Amino acid sequence: MEKQPQAATLSRETPPAVGRDTLSVVDNRTGKTYDLPIQNGTVRAMDLRQIKTSPDDFGLMSYDPGFMNTASCKSRITFIDGDKGILLYRGYPIEQIAEQGTYLETAYLILNGELPSKAQYADWVERITLHTMIHENVKELMSGFRYDAHPMGMLASTVAALSTFYPDAKRVHDPLARKLEIQRLIAKIPTLAAFAYRHSMGLPYAYPDNELGYAGNFLNMMFKKTEVKYLVSPVLEKALDVLFILHADHEQNCSTSAMRGIGSSEADPYCAAAGAIGALYGPLHGGANEQVLRMLAEIGSKDKVPAFIKEVKQSGGEVRLMGFGHRVYKNYDPRARILKKMADQVFEVTGRNPLLDIALELERIALEDEYFVKRKLYPNVDFYSGLIYQAMTFPVDLFPVLFAIPRMSGWLAQWQELIEDKEQRIARPRQVYLGASRRDYVPLHRRG
Ligand code: CMC
Repeated sequence: MEKQPQAATLSRETPPAVGRDTLSVVDNRTGKTYDLPIQNGTVRAMDLRQIKTSPDDFGLMSYDPGFMNTASCKSRITFIDGDKGILLYRGYPIEQIAEQGTYLETAYLILNGELPSKAQYADWVERITLHTMIHENVKELMSGFRYDAHPMGMLASTVAALSTFYPDAKRVHDPLARKLEIQRLIAKIPTLAAFAYRHSMGLPYAYPDNELGYAGNFLNMMFKKTEVKYLVSPVLEKALDVLFILHADHEQNCSTSAMRGIGSSEADPYCAAAGAIGALYGPLHGGANEQVLRMLAEIGSKDKVPAFIKEVKQSGGEVRLMGFGHRVYKNYDPRARILKKMADQVFEVTGRNPLLDIALELERIALEDEYFVKRKLYPNVDFYSGLIYQAMTFPVDLFPVLFAIPRMSGWLAQWQELIEDKEQRIARPRQVYLGASRRDYVPLHRRG
């Protein structure tokens, strides 16, 4: 049961007793003191509004570009301790889930809060499997893209297009409608992703094979040629499933905030997810795994690593060591640790990725270098994922798409939590206005 906060109190003369869950703020402009309730380690930004210099003053706001220290929601889905390098989905450590679970089990857990029973799991897998097909018209739509269209742009567009196929998705307050759209989105995103790839290769689309698991079927839709039945490598299927587990959710990151922000206007989940895919595409977020590979290829060989590190340090933040650093983790990203270990198993099947040696050397030097140590910059999930994807013959362009497929379950869980949260409102941040003050318009003919 959540502890209820005390009501915000107005200015007072004497200091309060120590031990209360409040923050006393002295406004030195007026000499008034305010007691702001503290709940869950936060003060409410709206409690600042009462702090005024005069009755017609708007009231104090907090200023936080990039949400460096602002909680935008209460969530029960994912917990991260960035200093200790801990990641929990609904309380379960990521290491345990990655070792013993499956991606679809993880998606169920993230969405429903509990691990499924055997019967619930079987039912969930069947529902997802039954929704993997996409309307044939989506194929027509895809054929309109240029041959060299980036698959992430194609994915965002086709996910948005699904909104027009499922108008009932607008009923965001109907739990049954939500459930159906959640199943559709999780089931269809691998199909859209694989079709985007096949379009760029000029290959005929490979339809879903409902006898295969989630990751196995995706490999089938990607790589099936003329054979009647695509044979999935169990090692690669397991590796991809683990990659999907590791990418399923990561609390209030940029794309999840986009999903919540768009969802807060009660847009349907297809449009909201398309926006989230757009946010994920950026090189500072899900596009980083693509950039890591390009960076490693550009460095070219192990002996050029020290020169590259020097360039990063001298650039004043302009040249970045991609796959390093994180807003939340100030320690080794636990997902990167799992992937580093898993890379060897994958390379046993695929052959060693020659870029691995450059990556290991980069990591070795960076972890000892004062610049990176001082800023607490460690490898993040993207540092090793790209090497594994590349060894599995996924093209570099597809890497952010491979991030988007599993993140769909996280976005949807967060979206559902937002819709059910009575405290949430349409996302509408304030601004500090520093522009021109009121002035009169001058018609064009009177301007110089
Ligand atoms: N290489 C070199 N310097 C860096 C890096 C890096 N990868 N990341 C941060 N810094 C420096 C930065 O220049 C700044 O230095 P100074 O204090 O001297 O100005 C300091 O470290 C703090 O950086 P910041 O940009 O203020 O940190 P942030 O929390 O705003 O950014 C980040 C986090 C992930 C965007 C950033 O670390 C970065 O650009 N990393 C490279 C891109 C990357 O790998 N992104 C994937 C993130 S994990 C997957 C995901 O969530 O999508």
